[in-house]
Amino acid sequence: MIAIGVPAEGQDEPRIGLTPETVKKLIKAGAKVTVRAGAGLRSHFSDQEYKDAGAEIAKTDADAVSGADVVFTVRRPPLALVKSMKNGAALIGMLDPFADAEGLDALAKTGVSLFAMELMPRITRAQSMDVLSSQSNLAGYKAVVDAAAAFERALPMMMTAAGTVPAARAFVMGVGVAGLQAIATARRLGAIVTATDVRPAVKEQVASLGAKFIAVEDEEFKQAETAGGYAKEMSDDYKKKQAALVAEHVKNQDIVITTALIPGRPAPKLISKAMIESMRPGSVIVDLAAERGGNTELTKPGAIAAHNGVRIFGPLNLPGQVPVNASSLYARNLQAFIEPFIDKETKALAINWEDEVAKGTAIARDGAVVNQMVAERLAGKPPNTAPQAATARNGDDKAPAKPAAVKRQPKGGKT
Ligand code: NAI
Repeated sequence: MIAIGVPAEGQDEPRIGLTPETVKKLIKAGAKVTVRAGAGLRSHFSDQEYKDAGAEIAKTDADAVSGADVVFTVRRPPLALVKSMKNGAALIGMLDPFADAEGLDALAKTGVSLFAMELMPRITRAQSMDVLSSQSNLAGYKAVVDAAAAFERALPMMMTAAGTVPAARAFVMGVGVAGLQAIATARRLGAIVTATDVRPAVKEQVASLGAKFIAVEDEEFKQAETAGGYAKEMSDDYKKKQAALVAEHVKNQDIVITTALIPGRPAPKLISKAMIESMRPGSVIVDLAAERGGNTELTKPGAIAAHNGVRIFGPLNLPGQVPVNASSLYARNLQAFIEPFIDKETKALAINWEDEVAKGTAIARDGAVVNQMVAERLAGKPPNTAPQAATARNGDDKAPAKPAAVKRQPKGGKT
């Protein structure tokens, strides 16, 4: 019988790797689950709820993981905790595979198999396991709600006896999963929404959400999407044309949500100091790319920057600010990932290392790093780390399942 352990997360992380709902499902699938006491509290899941779902409660993190075949975490746990896991057990979480390569190597040397959920191949079958999507979606929502709360004016147009309140203008830069949800949320709040991206596939999606698409649509734009569905780094010439377009547009915007990312590279700088200076005082920018350096020149990761009356929010863990939903979706992603690897007869852990979801996410096995990108980082090579390259290496060069991904962001905004 497979034993699953869930330790508490660090101080900065309110989410948790399993919820009572997923504990129940995994127990039904044949697992035994142990959760560290109090680990779910910051997501409002009590020990009693875990017990009622069938889990055992452990007094310490070490007790929660020492007998486990599989440990679920949100963030990369400390080395000491991984050392208390069984040799050959699996650690599954958002292990931040491109940060602190040496730290990751030390985890690998413990003999624990490491799976980084961020590296999940973007194939149709793996959509239910895609943690980047489940978490980005909530981040896109929260970014707009936070912007609306900070914006000292109303978002919808209101016609009153005392006169008309104009609708606010919101501009979403980068229309991936977070951007689509940001558009839907801003629309629901009544803003006039425009959006931009470098991938042509986005144009139709933006229109279907009732927003206006603006972009430099030249030949380069038509080629800007990789086989993995991600954006490419654009040429200097394109960047110049894009900057001119954005400069003209942004000065009339009240709220700007930036989400633009290129896998394995610093976030593209899309909003300059001069552009911020052209905006009206009171305008608000929420920069979801803050963790990767930010999309604006003035973003301070983890802080709020202010310039000429414009505030730029650089949040680092927005999904963690909606931890109840974020944990619920994340736990379902992990459940969907592990269930096929529970042997139907023996109920033991049976990872199929040839399966593309295991291959794509595995970064260490039997004491050694098995992911080429992480190995290159260890060897001191500069990052050129596009997840789609990993999937291609793994023999999966199928086109990403974009229509289905878009389906999860339907017109009404239900996700
Ligand atoms: P992301 O988080 O990597 O990037 C966010 C957005 O920024 C992207 O739309 C990207 O094109 C855009 N961007 C990059 N550079 C830019 C620039 N210079 N100017 C403007 N925008 C720029 O993207 P995310 O959210 O991970 O989605 C990427 C794609 O993967 C989407 O097509 C999505 O539908 C697809 N997807 C597929 C899944 C599956 O099939 N399992 C699951 C989730 C997403």
